Amino acid sequence: MKITVIGAGYVGLVSGVCFAEFGFNVICVDNNTSKIKSLKNGCVPIYEPGLDTLIMKNSAAGRLIFSSEISSSVKDADIVFIAVGTPSKSDGSADLSHIYQVIEDIHDSVNKNAVLVIKSTVPVGTTRTIKQLLSNKGIELDVAFNPEFLKEGAAIEDFMRPDRIILGVESEKAKDILSHVYRPLYVFNIPIVFTELETAELSKYASNAFLAMKITFINEIANLCEVCGADVKEVALAIGLDKRIGDQFLQAGPGYGGSCFPKDTSALENFARKLGIQVPLVTETIISNRDRRDKMINKILNACGNDVKNKNISILGVTFKANTDDMRDSPSVDIINSMISRGANIRIYDPSFSEQAKEIFKNINFSKNAYDNCNDADAVVIITDWPEFKALNLSELGKRVKNHLLIDLRSMYSISEVRNSGFTYSSVGKKTFKPESQHE
Ligand code: NAD
Ligand code: UGA
Repeated sequence: MKITVIGAGYVGLVSGVCFAEFGFNVICVDNNTSKIKSLKNGCVPIYEPGLDTLIMKNSAAGRLIFSSEISSSVKDADIVFIAVGTPSKSDGSADLSHIYQVIEDIHDSVNKNAVLVIKSTVPVGTTRTIKQLLSNKGIELDVAFNPEFLKEGAAIEDFMRPDRIILGVESEKAKDILSHVYRPLYVFNIPIVFTELETAELSKYASNAFLAMKITFINEIANLCEVCGADVKEVALAIGLDKRIGDQFLQAGPGYGGSCFPKDTSALENFARKLGIQVPLVTETIISNRDRRDKMINKILNACGNDVKNKNISILGVTFKANTDDMRDSPSVDIINSMISRGANIRIYDPSFSEQAKEIFKNINFSKNAYDNCNDADAVVIITDWPEFKALNLSELGKRVKNHLLIDLRSMYSISEVRNSGFTYSSVGKKTFKPESQHE
């Protein structure tokens, strides 16, 4: 079985590498020649735990090849996956130009017996439109839609042990070949659901929108906790133990970011509107999540006596979540820019040493570790939930800082953990703890 994956980003690269790990021959193609060059040299362009080892192993086994030659890479393929980006346009709709560019690039050369599978997240109807577009060019290709549900930072694990595989297919041939591709997962009894193209497409958006709504819900409850004295972590635990609710995606924080939830909720709202359907829960989720960043900015200002001018603020974590170097739509960007515009001196430590972050915050100093980053700090602000921030030695940190103020936008600590540290602890979903009063 020869598989070609077009787009070697977070999804395409992980999918291609995992398909190779399943034992198939895979070509990963990207029009970003420098990305392909570095992959050929064994350099992995993204921070994704475990990916480098699998790339090395499967390249050495001769099952995994990287190329920037799109036409030649699809000539002999039995199955072609498209995993290019579908970013947001300014009106919130999905920008499908990369996908249509790929169709332009491959229609002449693609093996006419191949199955073309869209893996990028696309609005309902797109896969059928692609099929029609090809048909208009005289190419009758089997086209399918296979949404990807992996999370960055746990991408290999998610791909290798997914909760389910959704396959939108229209022919027995597409069904057979996709069943074959995912056969290695049968060992783990992973449910495989075959649907219409439209159902598979909508399932992807519905899944992301539901998770985004769940996060937004717990963030609302966190606001309430801060005033009424409840602890959002414990509320999340209490409600999450109900199997109907589930315990995942109930961590209150600075609002969801990343390349997916913000863009996919907007795209869902956009294509629903075009179909004449209101999706008020999704709309409110988008608004509430946008407002959340201002709320976080006010929380920091409030804790700093409403004045951050010339104050040293130590930022711990800038990526949109832990275990990734991805800065796309990270809440940290709005928060840090707001502090800079108010005259704060910012220093950043992020365990991924993200190049994207250094590009965004060109004039800011990045430290090599969390402790150095906190030297002379007037306030320490945790924005990303990297596990190492949970293991900070607060008494060591206390010796470094100018002022004992810890603002934790991920609520990584319990009050009992900070009680004797000397720090004033302002977090989400809990009342601020002030050591002098020993009040919570
Ligand atoms: P990405 O930006 O990391 O990667 C896309 C890649 O496609 C880039 O390397 C780019 O150079 C390449 N590309 C663009 N146009 C091309 C062309 N014409 N020919 C060849 N290569 C081209 O994007 P991503 O995060 O991997 O997301 C891809 C799709 O998967 C999106 O639709 C996204 O919504 C969806 N998705 C992403 C995730 C995630 O965690 N990032 C998870 C599930 C689904
Ligand atoms: C998300 C989904 O989890 C994947 O299933 C999906 O495939 C992917 O989008 C996609 O379609 O691209 P990802 O964006 O990589 O994956 O990361 P998540 O772990 O979902 O986190 C998204 C954002 O929500 C982050 O900013 C994270 O910090 C935040 N989050 C997550 C919370 O604030 N609380 C939580 O409990 C969970």
